[in-house]
Amino acid sequence: MPQTLSVIKADVGGWVGHSAMHPDVLARAAEAMAAATASGMLLDGQAHACGDDLFLVMSHIHGVDHEIVHRLAWDTFRAGTEVAKGLGLYGAGQDLLADAFSGNIRGMGPGSAEMEIEERQSEPVIVFMGDKTSSGSFNLPLFKMFADPFNTSGLVIAETLHQGFSFEVHDIKEHKKLMLTAPEEVYDLLAFIGSPSRYAVKRVVSRATGEVAAVSSTDKLSLLAGRYVGKDDPTLIVRCQGNFPAVGEILEPFTTAWTVEGFMRGSHYGPWMPVAQRNSNASRFDGPPRVVALGFQLHDGKLGMSRDLFDDPGFDNARAEANRVADYLRKHGPFEPHRLPLDEMEYTSMPAVAAKIGTRWVDL
Ligand code: F6R
Ligand code: MG
Ligand code: MG
Repeated sequence: MPQTLSVIKADVGGWVGHSAMHPDVLARAAEAMAAATASGMLLDGQAHACGDDLFLVMSHIHGVDHEIVHRLAWDTFRAGTEVAKGLGLYGAGQDLLADAFSGNIRGMGPGSAEMEIEERQSEPVIVFMGDKTSSGSFNLPLFKMFADPFNTSGLVIAETLHQGFSFEVHDIKEHKKLMLTAPEEVYDLLAFIGSPSRYAVKRVVSRATGEVAAVSSTDKLSLLAGRYVGKDDPTLIVRCQGNFPAVGEILEPFTTAWTVEGFMRGSHYGPWMPVAQRNSNASRFDGPPRVVALGFQLHDGKLGMSRDLFDDPGFDNARAEANRVADYLRKHGPFEPHRLPLDEMEYTSMPAVAAKIGTRWVDL
């Protein structure tokens, strides 16, 4: 029976400031997931935190974009918001852009990644959770996982991977999508996804079998709201082993702390630090941006116990690199390239400053 994996996420309030999630908010969400599982609405559901973001990991039979599942996520975020309000947490309900649920959570603020799969006899899956960064930040790691033979040796030496993968790229400004195949079209692919503020990899598909390999959230809060309301803090689901890269090949891109958009006020470039879940609370200059990888061994639709995959000394060098890069970039203060270019910044005082200075600008 086909089954669907949905990860739907939102920031419903921070403890303290934007640094972390309060345990009571997480507990309320876990309760909602347990109730939905007990009632049969879900095959299984878990609530997880990365920094100040709440990620609902759900397995069910309803298919992608289904109202029942989206409504459950929305109601859970609302319940978490009530807890956050009760505790006076910061930015309670900040990612919920609408007053009432209208059938589909897309376009309402939360981010979502969903895939329909036929569960294999053994189905290892990794759910990545980002904080203090932006949709599109997974472009580079996804390219390395599924198109770079120096990262994924399986592309060269494993028959099941040798035909390569197709990438569904979204133009998040023009609302268009495009399929490109690797390895033949990698230069075309890179021309787009090398610019992650505009083009984001939504989906990766095996060319050998047509099976979906990975899906990420590409929702852009600032574009939805027309103003800054928080960073997108994206999620990514990746299937592992067999016809897909191995767990180690999927994690390998994170041995480098890639530079991503986000950090303080969502308006800076900073290094993306892979961390154990307990270390996902970003308090240095609201960063550096974090990424957590939870491994699941799906079985009959059950998620089972998650494994915290970056809780491994193998990623210590990437963490040290992230701290070094953060030190270096921070020295630039309000200068680019630490600060984002003007039209990419999520916060800007420029209209007010420009209005105040007004006619003091004179022709050269
Ligand atoms: C970044 C983030 C924080 C806030 C910053 C200012 O994703 O959420 O860096 O932007 O703490 O927050 P406000 O404007 O809410 O005081
Ligand atoms: Mg926040
Ligand atoms: Mg966040």
